[in-house]
Amino acid sequence: LIHLLSVEGLPKAMIHRILDTAESFLSVTDREVKQVPLLRGKSVFNVFFENSTRTRTTFEIAAKRLSADVVNLNIGASSTSKGESLLDTIDNLAAMSADMFVVRHSESGAATFLAQHLNRTRDGAVHVINAGDGRHSHPTQGLLDMYTIRHYKKDFTKLRVAIVGDILHSRVARSDIHALTTLGCPEVRAVGPSTLLPSHLEGMGVKVFHDLREGLADVDVIMGLRLQKERMKGALIPSAQEYFKHYGLTEDKLKYAKPDAIVMHPGPMNRGVEIDSVVADGPQSVILSQVTFGIAVRMAVMSILASSKGVNG
Ligand code: CP
Repeated sequence: LIHLLSVEGLPKAMIHRILDTAESFLSVTDREVKQVPLLRGKSVFNVFFENSTRTRTTFEIAAKRLSADVVNLNIGASSTSKGESLLDTIDNLAAMSADMFVVRHSESGAATFLAQHLNRTRDGAVHVINAGDGRHSHPTQGLLDMYTIRHYKKDFTKLRVAIVGDILHSRVARSDIHALTTLGCPEVRAVGPSTLLPSHLEGMGVKVFHDLREGLADVDVIMGLRLQKERMKGALIPSAQEYFKHYGLTEDKLKYAKPDAIVMHPGPMNRGVEIDSVVADGPQSVILSQVTFGIAVRMAVMSILASSKGVNG
């Protein structure tokens, strides 16, 4: 594996290798992540053209736990504001001996575009990790979600998973659907209004529900999603009150799921829109564990990429 650009096409064995490697980085309490020298002498560049709290910070912590040098480019204060292109920005950072780029961009395909460019110009010796591109993919989020599900539920082949909300604009939902399908999850559900569900879900083997109670019936895992208004160009955006009434995850709605169902959310959460605080902070919520596991999963991805030598290596 030279780059991590998408969950789509990632073989089952590689997903398990990443999850197993992540597990080896966590302490027995699952709250602390070990310090290891696997990336000593390597430079990881975080290049985020879109805002982030969890992904950017956990990549930084993960790289430091691997003993790498970390550079966080502040795009707002960078020369992109003077018209410098994405490729010129990356070429200049690569000239500073970058070994790995962690890239977030609002355009779908941006990370792949950079990886193809670096394969040509740097012989594939510089790795690219997609930290979210448009509505296309957010592979490390998908992988940390799989880590969380495996941690709490063990066996993917017995699970019913409901993804609730704005799936149309969600790179996380796409990544989760691909990962769950690859790992053998027999029932993945998409629950939301038809305006927020893509038309091709059934072709991906996903069951579609428009009623939240029906969609949550007997599920083991519930994944809430934010209304991604920044990607709803010109679309009809539902009001927060109306949306919460029909699709908000409340204590009452949670009762339709299995009693031991876990509640996940990639963040950022909009409390009172897609999720009630009682649920977000309740005993079934594993939302903050997702964040902690994200450090170990990102360590695993970076260490596996660093052990690959490049396309001609
Ligand atoms: N889940 C996620 O990508 O969160 P951030 O946008 O804060 O990184």
